[in-house]
Amino acid sequence: MFGPVADRLRQAEKIVFVTGAGISQESGIPTFRGKDGFWRKYDAMKLATIDAFYENPKLVWEWYEERRTNILAAKPNPGHLAMAELEKYRPVHVLTQNIDGMHQRAGSTKVYELHGSIITIKCTVCDFKDIIVTGFSELPPICKCGNILRPDVVWFGESLPQDVWHAAMQQASSCDVMIVVGTSLAVSPANLLPAYARQNGAIVIEVNPEETPMSTSMSLSIRSSAAKALPDLLTVFQR
Ligand code: APR
Repeated sequence: MFGPVADRLRQAEKIVFVTGAGISQESGIPTFRGKDGFWRKYDAMKLATIDAFYENPKLVWEWYEERRTNILAAKPNPGHLAMAELEKYRPVHVLTQNIDGMHQRAGSTKVYELHGSIITIKCTVCDFKDIIVTGFSELPPICKCGNILRPDVVWFGESLPQDVWHAAMQQASSCDVMIVVGTSLAVSPANLLPAYARQNGAIVIEVNPEETPMSTSMSLSIRSSAAKALPDLLTVFQR
């Protein structure tokens, strides 16, 4: 699958991945816009918003708690594992839109969570933040300051954590290979990252069973799933 760019890959000094929900699909975690992107009768895209949260914090919390339970029960798939293994051969940085923590659980050590994490929680008013270790006796959970707590994730219309975003831009602008896996590239600013890499002269490779709006501008667009293609990527370095 990576034959046409194998030499460029072997010459790579730094490999940056941009990942989306598709890389966790083979771990059984639903994507947003795929056929399994809806939850109960609600469109996930309408739940991951600050308005939905303030309109019905209990419902949004139920959705996140159901997702968190599924995610904790899921396992990293061969796609996540191959990315972690690749660190033995080259410096690897993972810029992920996912909040599921799967890259870290697979063993990736440099992961930038552009949209936050489903296992951290923060207060809607004070600066309280913490890791969620057990479930909650009531939803929505209440902060010590008396205000409701929210998932520490980036909702539509909210800005990304600036420190993480600037670090991600820096990595995208200084790599010689970028591999975009499992994302529809529908959401900004994450979908700007391939352009930063190209401006630096990097080759940009896409792994997605479906075409995306950027497929035609990729150096190579591989119509395959993450769990099938990424172990194949490893073999380029193991020869
Ligand atoms: N392997 C690789 N790619 C896959 C697989 C797979 N097994 N299964 C599905 N895909 C692809 C789909 O073809 C699609 O292009 O993964 C992509 C998933 O796209 P989305 O559901 O739009 O998810 P994502 O791109 O991560 O969404 C970006 O939008 O909903 C918000 O904040 C949320 O982080 C999310 C952001």
